Amino acid sequence: MGFTRILFLTLLFVWAADVQCQNVRIFNVKKYGAIPDGKTENSKAFLEAWKNACKWNGKAVVLVPAGTYLLDSVKFEGECKGYMIFKVKGNVMAASKLKDINQWITFKYVNGLTVAGRGTFDGQGYKVWPCKINGRCQTLPISLRLEFIRNGKLQNIRSINSQNAHVSIFASSNLNITNVKLSAPQDSPNTDGIKISSSEEIRITRTSISTGDDCVAILNGSKNTHISQVFCGPGHGISVGSMGGNTLIDNKDIVVGLAVTNSTFTNTSNGLRIKTWASRYEGLASGFTYEDIIMNDVEHPIIIDQQYCPSSSCDSKTASRIQIRDITYSNIRGTSKSKAAVTLNCSSIVPCKNIVLKDIRLVYTGNEGPASSICSNVHGYSYGLQNPPPCFRSA
Ligand SMILES: *[C@@H]1O[C@H](CO)[C@@H](O)[C@H](O)[C@H]1NC(C)=O
Ligand SMILES: *[C@@H]1O[C@H](CO)[C@@H](O)[C@H](O)[C@H]1NC(C)=O
Ligand SMILES: *[C@@H]1O[C@H](CO)[C@@H](O)[C@H](O)[C@H]1NC(C)=O
Ligand SMILES: *[C@@H]1O[C@H](CO)[C@@H](O)[C@H](O)[C@H]1NC(C)=O
Ligand SMILES: *[C@@H]1O[C@H](CO)[C@@H](O)[C@H](O)[C@H]1NC(C)=O
Repeated sequence: MGFTRILFLTLLFVWAADVQCQNVRIFNVKKYGAIPDGKTENSKAFLEAWKNACKWNGKAVVLVPAGTYLLDSVKFEGECKGYMIFKVKGNVMAASKLKDINQWITFKYVNGLTVAGRGTFDGQGYKVWPCKINGRCQTLPISLRLEFIRNGKLQNIRSINSQNAHVSIFASSNLNITNVKLSAPQDSPNTDGIKISSSEEIRITRTSISTGDDCVAILNGSKNTHISQVFCGPGHGISVGSMGGNTLIDNKDIVVGLAVTNSTFTNTSNGLRIKTWASRYEGLASGFTYEDIIMNDVEHPIIIDQQYCPSSSCDSKTASRIQIRDITYSNIRGTSKSKAAVTLNCSSIVPCKNIVLKDIRLVYTGNEGPASSICSNVHGYSYGLQNPPPCFRSA
């Protein structure tokens, strides 16, 4: 390649990069009539800003500047022409009775999306939780729904007091959640941190979750989920399942590929949990690695429960048909609030296969002797340090 040709290509590249930069356009919700007084409902202005941004053939920034914006249920939908950035600097506050019982803010059908900006999504859950606690209302809206999103980022934002789950991801791929803070009180009902289903390549890093339900719930159809540097607590831990609870005929629940690393659980009811209903539905949970995990005062640090049956709609004696296999727990240490620091209750019909325990150091904080492990129907291996001693014989 000649020098002029290289020079030409270099110039072309610089020019192209420049065009990309110039192609950023800001769609400020205030320009579309949003009023940040905490009283005016702003969904019309937000949707108008999104609609215009979505038509922009470049990087479109929907900007929510400082201030408090009251907002009813909204759906930000694509497909959009260019890359979408939803930048929240202010405080977006849910109207106390949202018009859509299933959702507050939804992003749907977008390829290339960033939700960022150091702002806050405030679900104002304390205004509606009492009705849930008293059992008078059925469904409450999820704060942030990400559905059919490809190549997305959720970073540097906060979600507080979501009415239901904070974040729910469905039918999405290549989505990175980084530096996010999710919080709701320990006794708030169903406030899962992040729920994932029918999605692949979801990565959650440097995120702190304190809530009333699961910190992360990995549900049917989740493939290759990566979780690292997550701080969970209070909450119900990082949970796969419940699996096998659907009543659709011939439908299998499948969760494959999960890595949870360098994460900390503090004062949670569970740490690393896999649960399947005591039901006859088939399925598979496989290829999980849990590594470099710290437990601080966790009720059930390691738990596989294949007899999950909280209601009268099931019979805890039914053996689960969900196969759990190829699960590795490595370097899990800290304290357990219950004596059974490791519980591996697997199915009698499809016993757990290739469960690997490596370097487990869990200390029971109570006064009924040392930590123990409980297991049924487990095949696997254990090596390295083992406290409590494993309750299965290495196969
Ligand atoms: C998410 O992170 C992974 C690993 O760092 C990276 O390969 C991928 O491109 C990122 N995806 C997005 C949408 O930024
Ligand atoms: C489970 O997930 C798969 C893959 O996304 C999907 O095809 C199937 O319909 C899901 N099953 C149920 C019961 O939702
Ligand atoms: C956890 O973090 C440490 C220090 O940053 C790193 O050396 C280690 O490889 C990480 N563990 C995993 C499983 O990524
Ligand atoms: C741990 O959780 C219990 C309730 O389960 C709560 O009373 C206590 O304050 C929590 N401790 C810490 C250190 O957060
Ligand atoms: C695990 O199984 C044992 C023995 O069947 C039972 O006593 C224990 O309650 C079970 N643990 C859980 C968490 O289901």
